[in-house]
Amino acid sequence: MCGIVGYVGQRAVQEILLAGLEKLEYRGYDSAGLSMLVADGSIESVRAVGNLSKLRAAVLDTNGNADEEQGAVATATLTATSGIGHTRWATHGRVTESNAHPHYDTTDKVHVVVNGIVENYLALKQRLRDMGAVFTSETDAEVIAHLISHHLALGSLVEGVRAAYAELEGHYSFVAMAAEEPDTLVGARKECPLIIGRGDGEQFVASAIPAFLAYTRDVQYIENGEIVVVRPEGVEFMTADGTPIEREITHVDWDESTAEKGGYETFMLKEIYEQADAVAETIADRTIRPDGIDLAEAELDESLLENVDRVLILAAGTSFHAGLIGRYAIEEWARLPVDMDVASEWRYRNPIVSERELVIGITQSGETADTLAAMRLAHEKGAKVLACTNVVGSQATRDADGVLYTRAGLEVSVAATKTFVCQVAAMYMLALRLAEKRGTLPPERIAELVAEIKQLPTRITELIEGLNGSLLATAKRHAMSDFYLYLGRHVGRAVALEGALKLKEISYIATDAYAGGEMKHGPIALLDEDTPVVCIATDMPILDKMISNIQEVRARGAHVIAIATEGDDRLEEVSEEVIYVPRTDWMLQPLLAVIPLQLFAYYVARERGLNVDQPRNLAKTVTVE
Ligand code: F6R
Repeated sequence: MCGIVGYVGQRAVQEILLAGLEKLEYRGYDSAGLSMLVADGSIESVRAVGNLSKLRAAVLDTNGNADEEQGAVATATLTATSGIGHTRWATHGRVTESNAHPHYDTTDKVHVVVNGIVENYLALKQRLRDMGAVFTSETDAEVIAHLISHHLALGSLVEGVRAAYAELEGHYSFVAMAAEEPDTLVGARKECPLIIGRGDGEQFVASAIPAFLAYTRDVQYIENGEIVVVRPEGVEFMTADGTPIEREITHVDWDESTAEKGGYETFMLKEIYEQADAVAETIADRTIRPDGIDLAEAELDESLLENVDRVLILAAGTSFHAGLIGRYAIEEWARLPVDMDVASEWRYRNPIVSERELVIGITQSGETADTLAAMRLAHEKGAKVLACTNVVGSQATRDADGVLYTRAGLEVSVAATKTFVCQVAAMYMLALRLAEKRGTLPPERIAELVAEIKQLPTRITELIEGLNGSLLATAKRHAMSDFYLYLGRHVGRAVALEGALKLKEISYIATDAYAGGEMKHGPIALLDEDTPVVCIATDMPILDKMISNIQEVRARGAHVIAIATEGDDRLEEVSEEVIYVPRTDWMLQPLLAVIPLQLFAYYVARERGLNVDQPRNLAKTVTVE
């Protein structure tokens, strides 16, 4: 999750940009950079790999230690009053200084900072190269600088941006500056967030409000498909075809801690709402090809996926539940046998693994002691080990043979939410890539699944926007119940397990989760008329069997809350309450079905007056043996 900040005004911009980027650090990044317009009319850039202290050091170095000629320019950045800054989390291209933003065109006159993905960058890059552009990075983002520069002939930076925008495919937001148009920044938004901060004789633009909250609380939201022209005296909004738009100014009444939470009351809620963006980042460049998935990146040599005849998934807690969905997807699509176990059990089992086994350690933090120990043991026994993690540079990434990153951004809440859906998305992509390599699915089916995976962020947005009062009412109705049963079958079982875990960990309510078919073998004894039973009944091959299990629950008079796929009316007849999720391929339904359960757990905890960001007895990372 990259961060953008831009400023035009009267103050020295260097510190404003650095401080703004520091406020966006929570999103996670691996390199950073600034570009500032200096007095001689040129644009000076400083970029560095690593955290912001490295960028600060590089800036100081440039300001202080440059030779005489450079020193004049470098010192000029101290007095520069307009510029852009960026924190990058590598997607296209390795973590290097030349891949860090800002990127610039061949003449060094147009600089850009970009979040998101340009899907058609290869075709654009070729065309721009044929016209003489010289590229200096491996990124997709750099094409934007060259494209705007090419279109500057239209007369102005905003014309250049609009023409470039019309040619770009993907989801992204960016801010551009041009040496020829001092004190002007032009921003564009397609899906990825971008927000204006309004000041007096100065303006800010950023990917999130905390970046400029120290200076202003007056904000203007940029909507999808809009372009903004930002000058010290004001901001113009327009559609991509240039039609002016009026945009009201909203005053945000946030203190520092609310700002950190993006205006939400807790980190958990913020992170639930960030899931569409997080999944979009996770799948971005990996789903560009309509006929398949691309996972090869600096940390993952795809030869790791070859000559594999078994898969073993090891994880703990929520990550284990993501692995369970991965198991179904790999078996269904890639026809590979998949075993799995919780890492804390497997490592003490004197386990048997072979060299042709791919061991996947799923750990969002990359630091969970049992998962790390299990991965190391598998490695010692000769297996190939792939880490699926959210944290760049974590121990799991150092121990594994390859890394499949989820790109959820930093997760602060102890209860994992957005990292879970990203792990599930990563498992789907891995399963599909294995299927592609092994030729176990027809090309049309792969294309269909890629298209559905690409739609997931939109479906998550639709789902969250639609989950209104009724879910809250359900939570209020059952908030004081002292026991909940969760049931699911097939891929729905993982959702039931995860829903039950979320509720118990943040609401301290006893929950149990079972495979629907197991209910009659014991747990049915627990049911009475007061028991809420959450039943995962989204589209899947054995939905009829799940509906039969629901009937069994009903026969005991318990209260059924069903999670169903939109358009499936059968659940209305057998359930007291039905929560619908958008329809997608049945294998992908779990990623959507879990979201109402996260929110449900959240609302129940709130009704019980609990602090969901700090559940008792829990730490974010379990590193103690
Ligand atoms: C639950 C939760 C935990 C973690 C588990 C593993 O909300 O967050 O169950 O999933 O402690 O953590 P990681 O994935 O960091 O290995």
